Amino acid sequence: MEKDSDPPFAVSADGVNQTDLPIPIDAVPDPLVVFDAEGIIRGANRLLGGLLGFNASELIGQPVEMLYPDADRSAHRSVRQTFLSRASDLSHTSDTLQPMRREVFARKRSGALIPVELSMMLVPTAVGAMFTASMRDASRHVEIEKALTEAADEADAANVAKSRFLGTMSHELRTPLNAIIGFSEMIQHETLGPLPHVKYADYVQTIGVSARLLLDLINELIDLSLIEDNSLRLKLEPSNINEILDECRSVIAQKAQTQGLKLRLLLPKGPVAHPVDPQRLRQVVLNLLSNAIKFTDAGGTITLALSEDAAGMKIQVADTGTGIAPSVLENIFDLYVRSEADRNVTAGGLGIGLHVSKRLTEAMGGTINIASTLGEGSTITLSFPPNTAIPANER
Ligand SMILES: Nc1ncnc2c1ncn2[C@@H]1O[C@H](COP(=O)(O)OP(=O)(O)OP(=O)(O)O)[C@@H](O)[C@H]1O
Ligand SMILES: [Mg+2]
Repeated sequence: MEKDSDPPFAVSADGVNQTDLPIPIDAVPDPLVVFDAEGIIRGANRLLGGLLGFNASELIGQPVEMLYPDADRSAHRSVRQTFLSRASDLSHTSDTLQPMRREVFARKRSGALIPVELSMMLVPTAVGAMFTASMRDASRHVEIEKALTEAADEADAANVAKSRFLGTMSHELRTPLNAIIGFSEMIQHETLGPLPHVKYADYVQTIGVSARLLLDLINELIDLSLIEDNSLRLKLEPSNINEILDECRSVIAQKAQTQGLKLRLLLPKGPVAHPVDPQRLRQVVLNLLSNAIKFTDAGGTITLALSEDAAGMKIQVADTGTGIAPSVLENIFDLYVRSEADRNVTAGGLGIGLHVSKRLTEAMGGTINIASTLGEGSTITLSFPPNTAIPANER
C-alpha cells in the first residue's frame, strides 16, 4: 500500500513526463491510469495504487489490460480501437469526443475483482494522443443494487404467496357458498313444502341475497389473485358491443330505479364490433355502473355511452354523483384506494373494483381513464384502439 511519503505514483522515466499532460494526475480526485494508443501504461496516480494495490514500477510499460479480468481483455482492446477511430473521424470537425463511461470489473494485484465506474478520455499531449481512464470504486453501488434487488425479490415472493393464498381460500369459500345459495333458493321456493312461519320467507331471502353478495366478493378476490399472479387468461372474440352494453343496462336497471336514478344508454345507430372477452367487458362495465349508482344521490343521472370513430372505440360511464377529490383521484386505480367520504364508510366495498377493471381493460388492449369533479360527478372512459393489437399471451 502507498504511503503519503512515497514518491508520487505517476510517471516514471519511461513514462510520459507529467508536464506533457494537461492535468496533474495526482490532483485528480479519482484513481487514474494513463496509457497510450497501443494500450501501454505511461502513468498512474497514487489513488489508483491505493485502489488496486499496485506500485508504479509494476504498472509502467505494461499493457493496460492487466488491470482487467482475463475474460474482458479483448473487449477492452476493441473498445480502445473504437474510441481511437471515433477520435480520428472527429479530427476534421470542431466536435469534441465525449468521455466514454462504463461499469466494468477491475483486477487488483491480488487477483480479486472489484466493480468500477470507468470513465475514459482521449487527451492530446506533446508525445501523441494519450488515454486517461479514471476508475471509481463502485462496490458500494453494486452492494446497494444487490440489496435492492434482493428486497424486491423477497417482496415479489411474498406477494405471490399472498395472492396464491387468496386464490386458494377463495376457491374453498366458493364451494360451501354455492350450497347455501342453492338450498336457500329451494327453501324460498318451498320446493319440498310450505314454510311453517311467514317470517322464514323473509329470512331465507336475506340469506340468499347475502350469500350472492359474498359470492361476488369472492369472485372478485379470485380475479384479483389471478391478475396479481399474471395468470389471468382472457378469451378475446369479435363481439357486438351494443348488445353487451344493453345487457349491462338491464342488469342494473332495477337497482337504479329503486334508488331514484335516471339511467340512459346512448348507442350509435349501427352495431360496433370489437374483439373483447364479453364476460370480462360486462364485468368491467358493471363495476363502473355499480360505482356510479353507489356514489350518486337520488335524482341524479347515470349515462352509459358507446361511440366509435377513426381513433377507435370508446365506452363511457358518466354520473352526476359526489365526484372524487383530486388527492384520491391521483391513484384511484391502485388496489384498496377508496375515498374517506362518509358515503364510502356506509356504502362498503374494498377498493378492488377499479383496479380489477383497469387490469381487465388493459388485458383486452384498452386503456381506462377517469375525469371527476367533486360535487359534480365522474366520467370513466374505456378506450380501445381500432384493430386492437391483442397481446400474444392472451390470444
Ligand atoms: N363513480 C364514482 N363516483 C365517486 N367516487 C367513485 C366513483 N367510482 C369510484 N369512486 C371512488 O373510488 C374508490 C374506489 O373504487 P372501487 O370500485 O375500486 O372500490 P369500491 O367501490 O370502494 O369497492 P369494490 O369495488 O371493491 O367493492 C371508491 O371507494 C370511491 O371512493
Ligand atoms: Mg367499486
